[in-house]
Amino acid sequence: MKLIIMGPPGAGKGTQAERLVKELNITHISTGDMFRAAIKEGTEMGKKAKEYMDKGQLVPDEVVVGMVKDRLLQPDCEKGFLLDGFPRTAAQADALSKTLNEMGIELDGVINIEVPREKLMARLTGRRVCKSCGGSYHVIFNAPKRSGICDSCSGELYQRSDDNEETVSNRLDVYEAQTQPLIEYYSELGVFLNINGDQNIDIVLKDVLEVLKQ
Ligand code: AP5
Ligand code: MG
Ligand code: ZN
Repeated sequence: MKLIIMGPPGAGKGTQAERLVKELNITHISTGDMFRAAIKEGTEMGKKAKEYMDKGQLVPDEVVVGMVKDRLLQPDCEKGFLLDGFPRTAAQADALSKTLNEMGIELDGVINIEVPREKLMARLTGRRVCKSCGGSYHVIFNAPKRSGICDSCSGELYQRSDDNEETVSNRLDVYEAQTQPLIEYYSELGVFLNINGDQNIDIVLKDVLEVLKQ
């Protein structure tokens, strides 16, 4: 399956993506994770991206688009993929359509996880992420069995540098201004699947798998 998962910061894209790619045996492509990996490696691209990410702004389209194009050409995408956090602007959506066209690929679905804005701040400021496997936890809503330690790989959990109140607030504004309009773009393509993300993590997953079967 070739899928996109979208929704505001904190909607649960990464949490659901982790589970969906296992269930469907497809490749997870998270642009946010790719940038964080580049920052960790200290590449030029990583340094540039960090300036935008720490302010809660979007990394320029041309940087993201080129990175995703290269990623889609990797052999592990042949079995199917789930794009998480891309596209985020109209220009990115257009570039993706063009690339998929050239590759002869049609999208099977665009999953849109809906959560009211007032719930997102608490989700993001309480998030903890695994340094080793990238697994996403929450100090209250999805606490690991041992505090500060990943359930699946025993890696150390940390707080993302953009998960503070000020940056989150910017990220939510940027989402509403630049990414939310894509809902209309994809509704018109007829592959759009709305999911209520304001429910227990397992129920959200069940709902996604159910709509994908239809
Ligand atoms: P990115 O890493 O994509 O961040 P984001 O879009 O802000 O989304 P998040 O990862 O914060 O949220 P999520 O929906 O994945 O939530 P999660 O599952 O972790 O991007 C970061 C930055 O990189 C951007 O700001 C930008 O600068 C740059 N960037 C990335 N892509 C770009 C692009 N295409 N173009 C330009 N720039 C780009 O869950 C959040 C928390 O909630 C967790 O603690 C989790 O445990 C909890 N939770 C999850 N589900 C539930 C539930 N059902 N109930 C209760 N709690 C839940
Ligand atoms: Mg994420
Ligand atoms: Zn881990």
